[in-house]
Amino acid sequence: MRAPANDIVRDAATVEARVKVAVVYYSATGHVADIAREIAETAEKAGAEVRLRRVAESAPPEGVDSTAATDGTPLAAVEDVVWADAVLMGSPTRFGNIAAQLSQFLATLGGAWRKGELADKVYSGFTSTGSPHGGNESTLLALMHSFHHFGGIVVAPGFTHPAKFADGNPYGTAHHDAGGTVSVGDVTRNAARVQAERVVRLARALASATV
Ligand SMILES: Cc1cc2nc3c(=O)[nH]c(=O)nc-3n(C[C@H](O)[C@H](O)[C@H](O)COP(=O)(O)O)c2cc1C
Repeated sequence: MRAPANDIVRDAATVEARVKVAVVYYSATGHVADIAREIAETAEKAGAEVRLRRVAESAPPEGVDSTAATDGTPLAAVEDVVWADAVLMGSPTRFGNIAAQLSQFLATLGGAWRKGELADKVYSGFTSTGSPHGGNESTLLALMHSFHHFGGIVVAPGFTHPAKFADGNPYGTAHHDAGGTVSVGDVTRNAARVQAERVVRLARALASATV
């Protein structure tokens, strides 16, 4: 049976407006996971269809205290990235770089990359460090190396909103946990919201354009 004409019109409008956002993160002690949830909730409120996905722990327990790496969030799959119009990736800073766990996930994207399935999407990154200048910017820029290889459109938050002058990082949302003693608070959450809204807005504009 055919659906009433009104429903068809409404469904078409909904599909057109709903950009698909994948939020993919690795987190050991929960700070990056908190930012990821804030970004996912904001993107949903902004009208996106969102997949929140975590990357599994692979380090031995003597290397990393992974209290947050095994929460109930579904594991990230290559298909989640292929599916999305916009991908936000997050990693703790590890020795000034992205965590090996997220790097391992990036390595699984080789087949999709070869088929051109990672290109022409919006990408953006977020991180957390132990100290304020412990490598948050180098981590975000390292993450962007991969985005460029994908043929992605990197959407950094920049200093496009007053909240960005509070968190002070134009490359992406960045928290610092002061040696694990400071939880993700309003400054970081506001920055995460600005980033998520900007990503959804630009992904929506790109989805409605012919590229
Ligand atoms: C192996 C290892 C290396 C780290 N390297 C850095 C670093 O280079 N700079 C820094 O500021 N913090 C460093 N940290 C601290 C984490 O980046 C920080 O605690 C972060 O907030 C953890 O995020 P998470 O709670 O999502 O796991 C390191 C932590 C570990 C376990």
